[in-house]
Amino acid sequence: MDMIDKFMHAVLSITFFVFFLHYRLFTSLVATARSLFKENVSGKVVLITGASSGIGEHVAYEYARRGACLAVVARREHRLRQVAAVCEIIGSPEVVYIVGDVAKMEDCQQFVEATVSYFGHLDHLVTNAGVTPVCMFQDYDDITKASPAMEINFWGSVYSTYYAYGHLKKSKGKIIVIASSTGWLFAPRLSFYSASKAAVISFYETLSYEFGGDIGITIVTPGLIKTEMTDGKFLSKEARLQLDPEMRDG
Ligand SMILES: NC(=O)c1ccc[n+]([C@@H]2O[C@H](COP(=O)([O-])OP(=O)(O)OC[C@H]3O[C@@H](n4cnc5c(N)ncnc54)[C@H](OP(=O)(O)O)[C@@H]3O)[C@@H](O)[C@H]2O)c1
Ligand SMILES: *[C@@H]1O[C@H](CO)[C@@H](O)[C@H](O)[C@H]1NC(C)=O
Repeated sequence: MDMIDKFMHAVLSITFFVFFLHYRLFTSLVATARSLFKENVSGKVVLITGASSGIGEHVAYEYARRGACLAVVARREHRLRQVAAVCEIIGSPEVVYIVGDVAKMEDCQQFVEATVSYFGHLDHLVTNAGVTPVCMFQDYDDITKASPAMEINFWGSVYSTYYAYGHLKKSKGKIIVIASSTGWLFAPRLSFYSASKAAVISFYETLSYEFGGDIGITIVTPGLIKTEMTDGKFLSKEARLQLDPEMRDG
């Protein structure tokens, strides 16, 4: 009887723990979304990297609906032009699009400076640009081809933050970092992606201590969200962007 009691107690504790974890994850996601848009962003200046598709594009639309001025950045100009046009239609007073590669430090400096010289200041930086290398470690013929994960996902965020820092400090602004749950949930073929996102999370957790109250930092760690990325767009072992839904399902 005693054994059964102990067993039941253990089962209940574990069930409760798992439930609690999910509950905490859910409430923290809701809290993140609420706190992001609790602020009146009407007329504020928001720079979003990787805004030509997926999460970045839709974050731009949410800001636009709430009347924010936007600078949208990515490498595909034709997509940015469309996103900017939609943002203006749905409520953004002014939108600029700037073509840039976040893996290049000089591009980051240029798009931050261009935004500030156009709008006069900067309130939010959303660092979202990212790629997903998908490959088993042993299948890489040339390991240097995995480096865009760090160059874009990690260094791209760092460079943008580096150049935006002074402006955000002045405006008591915010940085919204799109990391990923893969920063702590691991799956085969995502070693470099996970590592880059874990680096992003550690980096911005540290900055939030360093910045104190000067600049708000929100780290968002989404699970799976249907975008070009989950439609099978990934960085191959040759570092080429490919679209292959079958690979994703394999
Ligand atoms: N979808 C998910 O399930 C999921 C889950 C967790 C986290 N995330 C994260 O969410 C972010 C957005 O991903 P997504 O799912 O929306 O995928 P996506 O549709 O592929 O969007 C990625 C965006 O990043 C841009 N980008 C890529 N490399 C860039 C570079 N070197 N310089 C500038 N921009 C660059 C892309 O634009 P260009 O190609 O035009 O440059 C695109 O706008 C990523 O950081 C991703 O890791 C996604
Ligand atoms: C939000 O801010 C704008 C610009 O400062 C102001 O005109 C507007 O009335 C504010 N809206 C609310 C709901 O406070």
